[in-house]
Amino acid sequence: MDVKPFEGKLAFVTGAARGIGKAIALTLADRGARVVVIDQILDAASETANECGNGSVAMKLDVSDSSKVNNAVSEIVEQFGQIHILVNNAGINRDAMLHKMTDAQWSQVIAVDLSAVFYTCRAVGSHMREMKYGRIVNVASASWMGNIGQTNYAAAKGGVVSLTRSISKELAFKNVTANAICPGFIETDMTRAMPQHLYDAQLAKIPLKRVGQPNDVAKLVAFLASDDAAYLTGEVINIGGGYKL
Ligand SMILES: NC(=O)c1ccc[n+]([C@@H]2O[C@H](COP(=O)([O-])OP(=O)(O)OC[C@H]3O[C@@H](n4cnc5c(N)ncnc54)[C@H](O)[C@@H]3O)[C@@H](O)[C@H]2O)c1
Repeated sequence: MDVKPFEGKLAFVTGAARGIGKAIALTLADRGARVVVIDQILDAASETANECGNGSVAMKLDVSDSSKVNNAVSEIVEQFGQIHILVNNAGINRDAMLHKMTDAQWSQVIAVDLSAVFYTCRAVGSHMREMKYGRIVNVASASWMGNIGQTNYAAAKGGVVSLTRSISKELAFKNVTANAICPGFIETDMTRAMPQHLYDAQLAKIPLKRVGQPNDVAKLVAFLASDDAAYLTGEVINIGGGYKL
């Protein structure tokens, strides 16, 4: 078995300062990739990049800013030559029941969880088309199927699923694959912030009887980013210990 399948490959991972994104960055790096660790929090992103090694670097970037994303991608291509793997992981939630959800809660989540995925896929996807190689993994959520208190988040993640299926069709003939993954309930700052009774209620819905760990998700991303997944594109894969909404 090739233990360093990503040697010589560059991975662009968003929201990689902590949580699932950090686990993805570390797993790809452990298998040989140089990682560009993208996040708004530069200190923590730099720590992730140091832990990754392989010449990995951190970059402070708000992925919901279209022109900054374009500039960052040009800068990375100029500096490193090629981007082989794009993982869109950055995400936020601003939960509220429909009748209480503000315009700001709606638009912030759509901006970070959906528009940003479009911006990075457009910028990096154009580069991958020319390169005739690429692996795109977009982190959606089990909530894309619809969830109470998450009108904004579910709509954004549902958008990520259909965006991914669309670009998989556009990019397949250029040897670029694009898949979406839907984590269930994973232990990170995002879920630790929940009230205990809601946390326990989610745990009770998981057939495998444990909350997922960021590494569980990272291993799936590493598979989808590898050449073992070369014939897999346009798929939407649940990773939640059997959890389904
Ligand atoms: N934790 C879960 O149970 C769960 C379940 C399903 C899906 N997800 C998805 O997985 C992804 C990671 O979630 P997590 O739980 O690790 O969250 P997290 O809050 O622990 O980490 C998210 C990271 O994204 C960064 N980020 C947020 N907005 C950004 C922006 N505009 N530009 C750049 N970086 C930004 C944050 O700084 C942070 O480092 C998200 O897309 C989330 O929706 C999480």
